[in-house]
Amino acid sequence: MAMRQSCLRWCVALLVTGLVLGAVVCPAAAKKASRQQWQQPARVVADLGLKSGMRVADIGCGRGFFTFHLAKAVGKEGKVYATEISKKAIKSVADRVKRDKLTNIEPIISEPANTKLASESVDAAVVCLVLHHVSKKLRAPLTKDIARAIRPGGYMYILDWRVDADIKHDKDRRIPRDGLIKFATDAGLTLDAEFHYLKKQVFLRLRKPTKPK
Ligand SMILES: C[S@@+](CC[C@H](N)C(=O)[O-])C[C@H]1O[C@@H](n2cnc3c(N)ncnc32)[C@H](O)[C@@H]1O
Repeated sequence: MAMRQSCLRWCVALLVTGLVLGAVVCPAAAKKASRQQWQQPARVVADLGLKSGMRVADIGCGRGFFTFHLAKAVGKEGKVYATEISKKAIKSVADRVKRDKLTNIEPIISEPANTKLASESVDAAVVCLVLHHVSKKLRAPLTKDIARAIRPGGYMYILDWRVDADIKHDKDRRIPRDGLIKFATDAGLTLDAEFHYLKKQVFLRLRKPTKPK
């Protein structure tokens, strides 16, 4: 019994040391692991209701945190347009697409207020942690351009920092929830649903109206 307890203690100590060392030696890995926890990507992507064959845009995809989850959700018949203004970030996505021989992701170098997407070409657009990054005067034009690319009846998903998110960065540029909604409604969309389970982020679903028959 005593032997088993001592063995257990050693295992716990080794695990804790490993985690601490991992965080110190490789902060990027620790940051990635931490985001996996608070971002809940599997649950978020499930809530997008994507189906095989759908076309979805990952606006400001960064290094592809959501891109590869989205690609899985829409399958080989679907398409993910991963747009970015940063050439370095898009190269990282393009490199992984090539390495993993993925055929359903198209990396696109975009411009600050021009997604470079064709009009009404996507069923949904995900805009995660992007709008607060965009200069104030370009937030409305970018949101309008994203709305232009969504088909009638399609959705825009906005995820961005809650103004009271318990994190140190981006304090000066967080956009209040109502401000995020206003960008979308000014672009012709309507608030369709809101998800409340992400502690750090507002998560909104906005719908583009269908065309009158
Ligand atoms: C915090 S990162 C988020 C990346 C990714 N969406 C994610 O959730 O991990 C913000 C990204 O938005 C990109 N970005 C900023 N302004 C943009 C714009 N006008 N159009 C497209 N991407 C933009 C930045 O280059 C950066 O990669």
